[in-house]
Amino acid sequence: MGVPWHVLAAVLAVTLVITSTVSSSAAEMRKLPEGLKLGVATASFQIEGGWNAADKSPSIWDIYTHMPGKIKDGTDGNDTCKSYEFYQRDIQMLKFLGVDFYRFSISWPRVLPTGFADKISEDGIGYYSRLVDELLANGIEPVVTLYHWDLPQSLQDLGGWANPLIADWFEDYARVLYDALGDRVKTWITLNEPKQFIIYGYGMERFAPNIVSAGIGDYIAVKNALMAHAKAWHLYDKEYREKQKGTCGITIATDFREGLSDTPEDVELGRMVMDFEAGFYSHPIFSSTGGFPERMIKRIAEKSAEQGFPRSRLPELSQEEIDFIKGTSDFYGFNHYSTKFYTADGYTKGMYPIPSYEDDIGAVSSYKDYPPAPIIHATKIPNGIRKALNWVKDNYNNPTVLITENGYGNYGGVDDPERIDYYKAYLDAVLDAIEVDGCNVTTYTAWSLMDNFEWDSGLGAKFGLFEVDFDDEQRTRKAKLSALWYKDFIAQRSLDPDYLPQFEENKF
Ligand SMILES: *[C@@H]1O[C@H](CO)[C@@H](O)[C@H](O)[C@H]1NC(C)=O
Ligand SMILES: *[C@@H]1O[C@H](CO)[C@@H](O)[C@H](O)[C@H]1NC(C)=O
Repeated sequence: MGVPWHVLAAVLAVTLVITSTVSSSAAEMRKLPEGLKLGVATASFQIEGGWNAADKSPSIWDIYTHMPGKIKDGTDGNDTCKSYEFYQRDIQMLKFLGVDFYRFSISWPRVLPTGFADKISEDGIGYYSRLVDELLANGIEPVVTLYHWDLPQSLQDLGGWANPLIADWFEDYARVLYDALGDRVKTWITLNEPKQFIIYGYGMERFAPNIVSAGIGDYIAVKNALMAHAKAWHLYDKEYREKQKGTCGITIATDFREGLSDTPEDVELGRMVMDFEAGFYSHPIFSSTGGFPERMIKRIAEKSAEQGFPRSRLPELSQEEIDFIKGTSDFYGFNHYSTKFYTADGYTKGMYPIPSYEDDIGAVSSYKDYPPAPIIHATKIPNGIRKALNWVKDNYNNPTVLITENGYGNYGGVDDPERIDYYKAYLDAVLDAIEVDGCNVTTYTAWSLMDNFEWDSGLGAKFGLFEVDFDDEQRTRKAKLSALWYKDFIAQRSLDPDYLPQFEENKF
C-alpha cells in the first residue's frame, strides 16, 4: 500500500533479470528420473516405546538409557513415540505424505525375548506382521532392517558383537523373520550402520553397550558383524530368494571424508579416512578383491607394532572368510548426512586414547568454514553426497544404490524452512550424481518420518518431518512445514528450487 506502481514494476523487472541470469541449473525445475522411489525411515528403538510390553526383554539401549548420565538431555526410550501402540497413525502419516515405501526396523528382543530362536514372541511377531499387512493394504512397500542397534541384553551378556558366535545367532534371527514376513517383505537390510553401533559402542563411551575397548574390541566386533551380515545374506540367497523373490543387502553410513587441502599428503589422508569411515565395511562386501582396505591393514599393523602389540589389532580375515563375505549384498544401502575435512597438521599424540580408532587415523577434522548445523553431523555440505555416491560408483563398479537415510536435525518445531533447504540442496546433488555422473540410485529415503529418540542426544534432537508432542499421553504428531514440502515433492516428482508450502495444521 502506498508504493508507486512504477517502483513495483522496476523491482519486478530487476528481480526477473536477476533470476534469469543466475546459473540456470540452480533455478531449474528438475524432473525425477523414471522409477526413483521415495520414502521415509525410522528405527524400532527410536519410535516404538513399549520397552517392556508383553514378553519383550530389555535391549542394550534399554539398559544404557537407564544408566544415569548417559543421555545428554536425561530422557530415555521407554515410551518415545509409542508407535508400538499407535502404529496405525504412523501409517496415516505415510499415506498423507504419499510415500512409495516405509523403512522401519525390527526389535530383536521383541521378537526373540531370549535372544535365541527357541521361542518366538507371538505379540512381537504379531505386531510386525500387522504393520506389514496394513502398509501393503495402503499401497506402501515395507523395507525392513533386521538390526538397527537394539541387541537383546541377554546376548550382550555373552559378549554381543565381540563374540564370533553372534554370526550364528544373527542367522537364526534372520531365518525367523524371513519365515514370518518374507512372503510380504521384499527388501531386507541386514545391519544398519556398522560403524556407528560398533566404533561408538565398543570403542568409546557414546553408544550402548558402552564397552570401551578402543582400537581392539571395536575391530573384533567389525569382523563378527561382517560375518553375521554375510551369513544372513547367504541364508536368504540359498533358501529364500527363489520362493520369496526379494533382495537383501546392508546399509553403511557413507558420509564423505576428504583432505583439508589439495596437498598430496592431505589428498591421500582423505582417501585413507574414507576407508576407515566406510571402506572398512564396504570393501569386504563390494570390492572385487574383498577383505579390509589395504590402507587400513597397513596403518593399523604399523601402529600396533609401534605400540608393542605382537600382532595387528585389526583381526585377519582368512581367504575363506574373505570369499564368504565378498559379494554378499544385492544393493549398496547408503546413509549420508555430511562431510568432514582432515589434515595431519596439528595432530599430536595423546589427542585421542592410544590405541584407538581416532589415533589410528591420526588426524584432526573439521567442517571447514561451512555454517555449523544445530546438530553438527548434519552440517549442510550438499556436494559431499555427490562425491560419496561417486566414491561408491568408482570403487565398487557402480552398484545399485538405495539411499536409505538422509536428513537434517535441529531443536526446533513445525516451522522448519532450513530442513527444506537441506533436502532441496541434497536432492539437487543426488540428481547430479544420477544424471551427470551415472550413479545407479534407485531410492531416496528421508530420515526421519517423525521426531524420535536420537540415541545419546535423547528426545531433544529432532530429525522428523512430523513433530511429536512427547508431553502428551497420546503423542500427537503434527506435520511440519517440511512434511508439507516433501508431500508436494512426492506428488510432483520434480524438484522445484523455489517452492515453499504455506503452513497449515495437520494432526495425527
Ligand atoms: C523408564 O524405565 C526405567 C526402568 O523401569 C525407570 O527407572 C525410569 O524412571 C523410566 N523412565 C521414565 C521417564 O519414566
Ligand atoms: C541399475 O540398477 C538396476 C537395478 O538393480 C539394474 O537393473 C540396472 O541395470 C542398473 N543400471 C546400470 C546403468 O548399471
